[in-house]
Amino acid sequence: MSSEPLRDGLGRRHEDLRISVTDRCNIRCSYCMPQEVIQFLPRDQLLAYEEIERFVTCVAAVGIRKLRITGGEPLVRTELSQLIARLVQVPGIQDIAVTTNGILLTEQALALRAAGLHRLNISLDTLDETKFRTITRRTGVHRVLDGIRAAQAAGFDRIRLNAVAIKGLSEDDIIPLTEYARQAGLELRFIEFMPLDADKNWQTQQVLTGSEIRAIIESRWGPLHEKPRPHASQPARDFEYDDGRGRVGLIHPVSQPFCGDCNRIRLTAEGKLRNCLFSTQEWDVRELLRQNVHQDRIVELVRDCLHHKKPGHGIDDPNFLRPERAMYQIGG
Ligand code: 5AD
Ligand code: SF4
Repeated sequence: MSSEPLRDGLGRRHEDLRISVTDRCNIRCSYCMPQEVIQFLPRDQLLAYEEIERFVTCVAAVGIRKLRITGGEPLVRTELSQLIARLVQVPGIQDIAVTTNGILLTEQALALRAAGLHRLNISLDTLDETKFRTITRRTGVHRVLDGIRAAQAAGFDRIRLNAVAIKGLSEDDIIPLTEYARQAGLELRFIEFMPLDADKNWQTQQVLTGSEIRAIIESRWGPLHEKPRPHASQPARDFEYDDGRGRVGLIHPVSQPFCGDCNRIRLTAEGKLRNCLFSTQEWDVRELLRQNVHQDRIVELVRDCLHHKKPGHGIDDPNFLRPERAMYQIGG
């Protein structure tokens, strides 16, 4: 088998795999899920943990180094820590992160840490319960805040908070979130709203842009100072506060796309491989895994998927076609 590292048609080396483990979630963020889900994936359509492990073993042999486990909400999948424990042992894998809404962390943080999980990203868009209900159509922001504390207590030291920012909705949350994150010693990143909401309400005018977010933060904390990116592929621009106390980041896929340095591929919960959040084409990994084919065939499929990767998402192109899937069906 060729052990050539994975590259796409434009020569971009790919080292980062995002794995969705479920399309289920215990809340219903309006920028992601519909109010009512007609049908979640039946259990037998999900990749089993052994199947995920096998796929990761195949791609780690050709240069995948970083994994991010996503959902839906990954912690609603049974015994997620068992998957983590398997994946940390795959030769070549250097870093594993989980993106979670934090609600189940109080119960699971210790087990995840013990399994060897390296990093946690926790979504937190607001500290205000009323606003939390508006955004998530569920109650209980305190469960998320308790979950964050539990993760800190479990020994996670690289916790990052992610906040999706929407115009007309999020402006008032930005300063309180920065205050909270600075106080708690956590890194915070704001993400522009992308056209991946199940309800298909997204419009350009609803995007609170990175520069608008920056202006709000600077109105409270003074000028932000941009830090050099450790890796070109990192989507966020990170800034230090003027007083040197902590950092804040901006992810602006819409106003300033960063596709040129993308090194990510995505596997959906039912085993479809995607070369972009916005791809309209998918490659069926599950079928190959269930036919128990040789590793080479699996790597070949990944190379084919990458070969078709486009230079960018083209959100601002008049011919932009939204993917059929919403965020909870891809994994972020
Ligand atoms: N635009 C931007 N970010 C989104 N997320 C979910 N849907 C969207 C969207 N439409 C974020 C969540 C979470 C991660 C999985 O993706 O807040 O942090
Ligand atoms: Fe659930 Fe995450 Fe989607 Fe919110 S963004 S509904 S937490 S999967």
